[in-house]
Amino acid sequence: MKYERFFKKQLRAIEKELRRIMKTRQARPRSIHRVMQYAVFTGGKRFRPVLTLAVCEACGGKMRDVLPAACAIEMIHTYSLIHDDLPALDNDDLRRGQPTCHKKFGEAAAILAGDGLLTLAFEVLSEVKPAERAAELVRRVSTASGTHGMIGGQVEDIETSRKRLDLSTHDFICHNKTGALIRVSAAAGAIAAGAKGGKSAAVARYGAAIGLAFQVVDDLLDRDGYCRFLTRQETVKKAMRLIATARREAGRLGPKAGALVYLADFLESRIPC
Ligand code: FPP
Ligand code: MG
Repeated sequence: MKYERFFKKQLRAIEKELRRIMKTRQARPRSIHRVMQYAVFTGGKRFRPVLTLAVCEACGGKMRDVLPAACAIEMIHTYSLIHDDLPALDNDDLRRGQPTCHKKFGEAAAILAGDGLLTLAFEVLSEVKPAERAAELVRRVSTASGTHGMIGGQVEDIETSRKRLDLSTHDFICHNKTGALIRVSAAAGAIAAGAKGGKSAAVARYGAAIGLAFQVVDDLLDRDGYCRFLTRQETVKKAMRLIATARREAGRLGPKAGALVYLADFLESRIPC
C-alpha cells in the first residue's frame, strides 16, 4: 500500500493541527505568516511527524496528546529547509518542485519566516501538558536542532564540502544533520506516551536505525554520500541491515507497532533497484 494511503488518518490530523497552529498566529504582520504558511504547506512527506505519531501509538499513547509536538518538529524541519535553500547556503531555486521561499518572497522574508517557524515550534512545545513533559520535549528538541545536532551537522557539511570527505566525517554529518531530528521525532512519541525503561530504549534504537536508514536510502537515490565510500551493493546492504534493526526494535514494542514496521517497509521500497 502507498505511504499516503497507509497514513491517511495521521496525515489528515497533522495537516489539520498545522493549520490550527498557524491560524491562531495570523495576526499582523500578515506578510510573514503568509510566507510561513507557504513553506509549511508545500508538500512534504511529513515523515518526521508521522514517525512521532507512530511511536506514540506503539507505546500506547493517544494521537491528540502528541500532535502539537509532532507538528512542532515538522515546523523545525521546514525552517531548516528554507534556510538551507538560501543563497548563502545551497542557493536553490526549487524545493519540492515549487519556487523556494527566497525566490518567491525575497531573502529577508525567507530568513525571517525560518526564524518565525523555529520560535513558534518551541512556543507550541512549551504548551504541552503536563509541564514536565513540555520541559523534557523542549530540552530534547532544542539539543537535536542546535549545534550538538542538526546545526552542528550542517556546519560540518559546509566546512568539509570543499575538502575530500572521509567516512567518519560523513557518519558525523548524517548522525547530526538529518539523524538528530529524526531520532528526536521518535523520542517525542515515547515522551508523549509516557514510555519508560525498555520501551523508551527500544524507541531510541528504532529512531537511530530508521534515521540512518533514511539517509543511506537518500544517498542511494542521489548516488552520493555513502555511495562515495561503499560500493552500491555494500550501500544497499547497509540500508537493509538498518531497516532490519528497525523492524526488530519495532517488534519489541508489541502489537501496536504496525505503523513503525510500515515505515521500515516504506524506506525499503524506496531503495532503487
Ligand atoms: C529532506 O527531508 C531533508 C533532509 C535530507 C535533511 C536536510 C537537513 C538540512 C538541510 C539541515 C539544514 C539546517 C539548517 C539550519 C540550514 P525529507 O526527504 O523528509 O523532505 P520532505 O519534507 O520534502 O519530504
Ligand atoms: Mg539543499
